[in-house]
Amino acid sequence: MSVALKEGIYWVGAVDWNLRDFHGYITGRGATYNSYLIIDEKVTLIDTVKEPFLGEMLDRIRQIIDPAKIDYLICNHIEKDHSSALPQFLHHFPNVKLFSSKMAVNGLKKYYGQDLEVEAVKTGDALQLGKRTLQFLETPMVHWPDSMFSYLPEEKLLFSMDGFGQHIAGSGRFDDEVEEGELLFELRKYYANLLTHLAPLIQATLKKVTELKLEIDMIAPSHGVIWRKDPGKVIKLYDEWSQHEAKQKVVITYDTMWKSTEKMAHILLENIVAAGIEAKLMKIRENHRSDIMGEILDARGVLIGSPTLHRQLFPTVADLLCYMKGLKPQNKVAGAFGSYGWSGEAVQFIVDDLKEIKLDVIEPGVRAAYLPDDAETAQLVDLANAVIQKVKQS
Ligand code: FEO
Repeated sequence: MSVALKEGIYWVGAVDWNLRDFHGYITGRGATYNSYLIIDEKVTLIDTVKEPFLGEMLDRIRQIIDPAKIDYLICNHIEKDHSSALPQFLHHFPNVKLFSSKMAVNGLKKYYGQDLEVEAVKTGDALQLGKRTLQFLETPMVHWPDSMFSYLPEEKLLFSMDGFGQHIAGSGRFDDEVEEGELLFELRKYYANLLTHLAPLIQATLKKVTELKLEIDMIAPSHGVIWRKDPGKVIKLYDEWSQHEAKQKVVITYDTMWKSTEKMAHILLENIVAAGIEAKLMKIRENHRSDIMGEILDARGVLIGSPTLHRQLFPTVADLLCYMKGLKPQNKVAGAFGSYGWSGEAVQFIVDDLKEIKLDVIEPGVRAAYLPDDAETAQLVDLANAVIQKVKQS
């Protein structure tokens, strides 16, 4: 059913209960595609949904108003999870006037045809809806070039598109209707996998919101729950994450062939835990890269282990490093370890990748032939101690 955010403003989106893979990001709790309906002199829809859910969205709109009475459609973001229902929607309701950022116009036409009629808006533009005004704020590369926020000053309500979203399906539409630990886990995972590499642009967006003195008492993102209990809290978390703040926590992530690299991981773990530092041990074949990145986001230390296979990294470790190089987590002390039989190149490959990401890498990495002996175990203890010292200094 539709849900009222404020008088005359409704969530009319869709819940994708069974989605478990969102373009490679594992969504263990499903997802939602949020659309919002504003009833005013000009009836306005903020975003559509993923195409298979058009009927669900229209059913929710019909609980409030005949969709044919919608005057305006705002496309805050062209990615297909929000725009793929748009052409069908406009086919059924051709009198609806479409607005998007200037950067979105080209993308919308490329996706849905050059004859699509769309009016570009820019930061500072406003659309009079009746007793309310919809203001626009371009947020380029947060997280696509076309991305845009819409804001209703009379309601202190920010439609933040992907920003502040979480992939979580459920019956609760608001932050106070979902268990807090579950919600913050999904918020962090979402940020870590979509936004980590965009930190300077997120800082710029937060600065713009502050400069414009936007009063916000509710944030309505395009995924997950609506923030009404304490929207300032989620803004503060984005501020901290985009400044790469981290806590005294170390993620040890690895893969293993015959449990030698795993044994090395456990030696590192025992020493770090004994020093009173929070640690997470994550074997890559048992933990999806999107979950590992969620844990790395707020960790001050990261240790990556790989056996050498055919003179290369173990493939799952290469996959994780490739993903990490794109997301570029910062402000972390890092190290590498791994076992080998006769050549042992993998550890240096990890070191090279961690340096490319510009982490504070402790060199050299630790290599163990076949199984760590006393001397190699001592090197692992030295690596753990070096990480402990840097983590405790932070
Ligand atoms: Fe939820 Fe960038 O799309």
